[in-house]
Formats: sequence, C-alpha cells, structure tokens
Amino acid sequence: MIVSFAPVAKTVDGALVVTAFEGGVLSPFAASLDKGSRGAIKKAIAAGGFTGAKGQMLEFLGLAGTKASRVIVAGLGAEKNVDGLTLEAAAGNAVARLLTSGEKQVTFVAEAGKNFANAAEAACRMALGAKLRAYRFDQYRTKMKKEDKPSLAKAVVMSADAAGAKKAWKAHEALADGVYFTRDLVSEPPNILNPAEFARRCEAMKDLGLEVEVLGEKEMKKLGMGALLGVGQGAEAESKLVVMRWNGDGKSDPIAFVGKGVCFDSGGISLKPGDGMWDMKWDMAGAGAVAGLMRTLAARKAKVNAVGVIGLVENMPDGKAQRPGDIVTSMSGQTIEVWNTDAEGRLVLADALWYTQDRFKPKFMVDLATLTGAVMIALGKEFAAIFANDDELAGQLGAAGKAEGEALWRLPMVDAYDRMIDSACADMKNITGTRDAGSAIGAVFLQRFVNKVKWAHLDIAGVAWSAKAKATVPEGATAYGVRLLNNFVAANYEAKE
Ligand code: BES
Ligand code: MN
Ligand code: ZN
Repeated sequence: MIVSFAPVAKTVDGALVVTAFEGGVLSPFAASLDKGSRGAIKKAIAAGGFTGAKGQMLEFLGLAGTKASRVIVAGLGAEKNVDGLTLEAAAGNAVARLLTSGEKQVTFVAEAGKNFANAAEAACRMALGAKLRAYRFDQYRTKMKKEDKPSLAKAVVMSADAAGAKKAWKAHEALADGVYFTRDLVSEPPNILNPAEFARRCEAMKDLGLEVEVLGEKEMKKLGMGALLGVGQGAEAESKLVVMRWNGDGKSDPIAFVGKGVCFDSGGISLKPGDGMWDMKWDMAGAGAVAGLMRTLAARKAKVNAVGVIGLVENMPDGKAQRPGDIVTSMSGQTIEVWNTDAEGRLVLADALWYTQDRFKPKFMVDLATLTGAVMIALGKEFAAIFANDDELAGQLGAAGKAEGEALWRLPMVDAYDRMIDSACADMKNITGTRDAGSAIGAVFLQRFVNKVKWAHLDIAGVAWSAKAKATVPEGATAYGVRLLNNFVAANYEAKE
C-alpha cells in the first residue's frame, strides 16, 4: 500500500475515514460532513450503537454532501486519552474493513483531539496503523477470487501539518519496512526458508549499508560451536550463523541482538507429536525479528552501532541426528548433556550468545527466541516473557514494549533454578526432566553462556504468531520485537544530533 500525506481538503475520491470521541463527539471534519449531509451522522449516532468508543466504526455509503464513495467514522474513545496506539488501531481497523471492499483508495483525516498536540505525529501514526494492517502473505495462492484480493492500494493521510508528517514518515516507513521483512521471513514455508535462504535474504540487505557475514558449518566447527552444530546435524540443510552489523555511530561499543533461527523444529529424535507441528515453521521468529530490526536501523540510518547475530538451523530426525544422551561441547568450552533434542533453541543460542559477547564485547545483549511452550502456560498470548540480569535493561525494554503495544512481563531467574540443570556426567543438561518453571529453566541455561555482560532474554513463543487478527496485526506472523527493539534503541542508545 502506497502512503502519502496531504493538507486537509474538502473533496476526496474513494473512502474517507474521520474520527469521533467518546460521547459521540465528532472531530471538526466529521462535524462538517454531518452538516453537509443535513445531520445524517448525528441521526445515525442518535439511533444508538455508536458512542465513539475505541474500536467502534460507523459506516455510510453514498453520504450526501461529499464526493467520497463511503465514509467511516472511527471511534477513538475519550478525547483526553488518545495516544499513538489509539490512532494506529483506528486506522488499522478501517483498513481491515476496506482492504477487499473494492475501494482502491482511502483518505484519513488525522484529527486526534485536544490531547494530541503533534499533528505530524498523529498523521504518521494513522499511516503506520494503516500500513501495518494492510500486510498480506498470499503470493503462494494461485486461485484467489477477485473479491478476496486486496483492492485498496493507496492511503492518503490529510493533516494540518502535511509537510511535517511527510518528513517524520521516513522513520516510520523504515519501521514498517522492517516489520514487513520479518513477517515475510516468519510466514515463509520451511521448504523455502531454510538456513541458506534466510542467510541470502540477510545478505541482500547489504544494499542498505549493512555489513553481513555468513558462517557455514566449516567455520562454526573451527570456532568450536558444538552445541549449535549438534542441533543441525540431522538435517540436509547446512546450518548457518549470520552476523549483521550496522555502524551508525563512529567507534562506540556496539549493542547486540541475538536470535533463535530454527527454520523447522520437528523436535529431532525427541520427535514432536504431529498435531500443530506445522507451527514449528515459525520457530525462527526470534531471528526474524533481529533481521527486521537491523533492516529498520539501516533504513532509517540510526545513530547507533548495532550487531545482529542469528543462529540458523533445521532440527530434524535422521540416522545422523543428535540423540538424547549425547554430550556436546559448546564454544564456551562447557559441555552439555542433551537429554531432549527438542530443547534445541537453547543449544543454538548457547553458541550464538557466547560468540557475540566474545567477539564484539557489546554494551549488552538482548536475545529473542520462541524458546518454550511453557511461556504460553504462564502468560498466554498477551505478553512475551523477559528474563534479565540487569534491572535497568529490563526497565528500558519494558517501557519500549508498552509504548509500541508489544508487552513484556518479567519472570524470575534464581540460583535454585540454575542448580536444576546440573548434570551428573557433563557441565549441564538441557532440560530438568520436570515441567516446573519451564521458561525460567530455558533462561538460566542461556545465562551460563553470557559471561559478565548485561543481558536480557525475551521468550516470544506466545506472541510471534497470532491466530486472530488485531488492529494493526493481521492473522499470522506478528513480527513481535521489531517495534519494541526499534523504540528501545531510539529512546536509549542513539547519539543525539
Ligand atoms: N520451539 C519450541 C517451543 C515452542 C512451542 C515455540 C510452541 C512455539 C510454540 C522449543 O524448541 C521446544 O520444543 N521446547 C520444548 C522444551 C522442552 C523439551 C523442555 C517445549 O516447550 O516443550
Ligand atoms: Mn524444540
Ligand atoms: Zn524450537
């Protein structure tokens, strides 16, 4: 969908979206439409149902007094509470309604009320909401009916500060681009997006000024990455480690992001049951979010030095596959007894985290991983879990998540959990053998590979994929983490002009 900005004008082609607040209070543009239609909007509100509450929409076809083919009045809730996420959601919901409606163009009037002073930002947030909800992954559908195909191709946002909005849009557009990139990666089927293809898509980002290195199995063997390589040894596809670097701030120490990229997780010899196994095509969502974040940072030329490291493997059962009982030696030198080949994400991250802190000496590391089913038992699909060895880092990440609508909830890591992974015949085992505190056990395992660096681990197994659409997230791959981390970087780690 193509997004543009324009000054507020009376006449528009196609669909028109205007705003109203709780109590049925119309924004100025909506009020003028009401007047032009001799009170049709107020009459409809009086008839009941629409109060201007968040998420509500009132739709008119062929409203008198306007050229617009249809008018949607979108509720923003109480005027004093309108924030950026409210505006995004209103635009996103309207796009969902219009996407396959036959309309080719939608015009939003970005009137956000008294509490939202920045007109340019209001326009950008509506544009962002529209763009994010318009995402589709349908290139493999060859028999789509015309009425199922998106008709909506253009969004215009009318603003009191169209010039300011156009300027501010560049950074938002870079974010939307990163989110789209991640959603594509996470949506792709595992026969297409294997480690090599994932790595190629990262390499293509060299165009944006990213430095990208791809390590194959030979290089990783030299580095001693026995934990990561053990996971991939049953697969035909070669394991890869991709290092992406964005150097936007001279010589300062980088900040680092690390992602779990299991392109398919069958469980390996500890094979998963068939039901829902297809979900495991998106077991690379952590790596996908890291790649999308790096894309966004490069696209908006962020003033920061950032490193993204992703471990890419396929976890398959095979005659050559790793067995339960195997002992592997990680790059750190620590040995791991593999009790369950399905607890593979922590094995991949063990080497990716160690490599990252060892090579880059980062200010801190944040890893993202669809690590445990247990996180869904604890938090459902509303929060990702965060584990951290540093309170400030945890606080910054939590605040960024709140601002971007990607919520985090902190869970504890204590020594008692750590002792539960001690092994009788190696330095540690990769599971405990009970289901107790499953997500925290994953976290304390990772902690053994971070040394003294500040570090946070985000378990995103519950939020990476959404069975139900949300206002700005269509059903499917959410790209959870891209927005959160982009905000986190911008708010805390970018050099000021
Ligand atoms: N990739 C899974 C976790 C997962 C489950 C992600 C469902 C998304 C949706 C992970 O590799 C896994 O299999 N974890 C095991 C760990 C167990 C063996 C300790 C799990 O959660 O059952
Ligand atoms: Mn697994
Ligand atoms: Zn997994």
